[in-house]
Order: sequence, then C-alpha cells, then structure tokens
Amino acid sequence: MNPFSRIILQWYSENARDLPWRRTRDPYAVWLSEIILQQTRIAQGTAYWHRFMERFPAVKDLADASEDEVLRLWEGLGYYSRARNLHAAARQIVALGGFPNTLEGIRSLKGVGDYTAAAIGSICFDLPAAVVDGNVYRVLARHFGITTPVGTTEAKKEFTALADRLLPQDSPAQFNQGMMDFGALQCTPQNPACLTCPLQTSCNAFQTGRVNLLPVKKPAVKVQERRFSYIYVRYNGQTAIHRRGPGDIWQGLYEPLVTESVRPEHSNKQRALGYYFSQGFAKNQFPDASENGSLLLLRTNVKHQLTHRTLLTDFYLWKPASRPELPEGYFWIQETELDRYAKPRLFELLLEALS
Ligand code: ADE
Ligand code: SF4
Repeated sequence: MNPFSRIILQWYSENARDLPWRRTRDPYAVWLSEIILQQTRIAQGTAYWHRFMERFPAVKDLADASEDEVLRLWEGLGYYSRARNLHAAARQIVALGGFPNTLEGIRSLKGVGDYTAAAIGSICFDLPAAVVDGNVYRVLARHFGITTPVGTTEAKKEFTALADRLLPQDSPAQFNQGMMDFGALQCTPQNPACLTCPLQTSCNAFQTGRVNLLPVKKPAVKVQERRFSYIYVRYNGQTAIHRRGPGDIWQGLYEPLVTESVRPEHSNKQRALGYYFSQGFAKNQFPDASENGSLLLLRTNVKHQLTHRTLLTDFYLWKPASRPELPEGYFWIQETELDRYAKPRLFELLLEALS
C-alpha cells in the first residue's frame, strides 16, 4: 500500500470519531446521516439524525409519512430540497424492494450525488469508491501540492482520480472516513496541526511553506440581495399563509403574506403596500392603514443569509377591520395551528418579533 494511505488508515484507527451512525451498517441509517451531513455540521446534525431514526426507524416509515411531516421534522436544518429528496428517495427504495447495493443503484436515488453514493457504498457495502468533499480536496491539495482551483470541473476530475488511486481496495470504508476525520481534526482549514501530523515529512505544503496557500479556491460568486416584506395578518384569531411553490427558495415551506420588492428606491411602506404582488393581488385589496385597520411595522431590514443570497426583510403586523380577501394560494388558519406547518427560519423570526 502507498505510504499516504497506510498513514491515513493508521491515524484513523487511533483517532476515529465515535459517531452514532458508525455503530451500524444499516444503509438506511447511514444514508440518512449522509444526507443530513451534506450541509450541516456534525454537532447540529446528530440531534436531527436521532430525531429521524426515532420517528422513522426504517425506510418504510419514512416513505409512509407525508412530505409536510418530513419537512416539519427537518425544520431548522435549511436546504429543504434535501428533505424533499429524502422523502422521495425513501419511496424509491421501498419501490425497489430494498436499499440498492451497487454504486449506480445508490447514485440513482434522489438527492444522492457522487460523494454520497461513494460514502454509502464504501461504508455499507465495501464498494471501492473514494469520497471527494471539501476535506479531501484540502488534504490532497496540501499533501500533494496541487494548485488546481477547487470548485472547477477540472479539479473534480483530478482529485477524484487521485483519491481513487489512493483508495485501498480492501478497506474503502476506513480510508474514506479516515480522510473525513483527518480533514476535520488534523488538517483543518485554519491552523492545521502540522507539528503533530504523521504526514509532515511527506507533505508538500508543509515542506514548501505553502500550508496557508492551499487549497487554491476559485473566486466566489457574488451574493445576490433580495428584499421582502412579510405581513402577518391577524383577524379573529386567524392568520393567512401560503405554501411556497417550486423554482425558488424554500419550496414546500409555509409563510405569511409576502411581497418582493423590485424597486429598491421605494420606501418600506410603499414596498409593503403591494405594488409587487407577483401573483396578481388586486391593489385595492392590499393592506392600507387608513382604509382597513392598522399596519404596524415590527422590524425593518431583518438580515437573513442564505448561501447565494442575502435576504433583507421588513416584518409587519396587519390587523384589518374586516376580513380581507386573500391573494391566490393563501388560506386562513387558526394562529394556534401555526406549529403544524414547516416554516423557514425567517418566518420564525417574525413570530418571535410578534411575541
Ligand atoms: N461528513 C459527511 N459524512 C460523514 C461521515 N460519514 N462521517 C463524518 N463526517 C461526515
Ligand atoms: Fe495537513 Fe499540515 Fe499534515 Fe500537511 S503537515 S497534511 S498541511 S496537517
């Protein structure tokens, strides 16, 4: 075996993190952990993994649940397409008659990409497929002195080929998880522990003083800004919500009356006053403090950061004097029923501002 892989395996045998999904080879439990960990840290993800395993001990239980329930259990984790895909994939697995045990089979599940397929395949079925994630890019770029910018298709090809070449055929699970833990504990993004590192003498970055220069990153895409007004309507103990549709953030989650401003030069109030109801809300139905009860500004410019956008939102409380007609897609619910609906964090912030 090549010295790099031998050292990673040795290191892992001494330093492996004790994680609950490592105590099983049940592909359902491992798959669930991998989907949660795609964009969530272990500290936060572990609680959700337990929660899902408790509510849905087997894939059939998850497949039988409603999408709304899955989204509700997922609430707080973000990237909700993961939850929708999780649910759809559970139904795929049940339809297949069991968890697929080939790389192509696993890869065909919704929400499972190359990384996740390699992780599940190696951990549960000893399939010889190397995982390539941020940790692996970093460790390989430093140790082998690779300067190809990560995040490019060229880098993906190059690092995948190298990782597959390094993968010991008889212990892919240990090697892959060793790379994950080595990147998370030893060769960390900031201040890696080079002085205690078993790879120090062969590490190109350490030997050439380039640890802080590797891996090379591709310039980040500019973060887009979007402005919303959230209007919480309160009438007779009821409020109005709608379910967000496909093609934008937060598909399947529920939120209050919302307008998105396309004219940043307008005042807060003008924005809220519904120039912009994209779904054709008639202007004369929209909240107007003078004509139909009071419209109270609760908070302004609440900042909420998503990966590729910054949301700036004004929160309003609208107490109409008579029951207003709702725009297309909205419906009334009792305010006490709100916790039955999966909500984006931003809506939770509004509810906190209300109380
Ligand atoms: N991150 C993603 N998958 C992981 C795993 N199986 N163990 C530790 N960290 C991970
Ligand atoms: Fe990473 Fe430092 Fe070890 Fe090189 S010597 S592999 S940079 S921790």
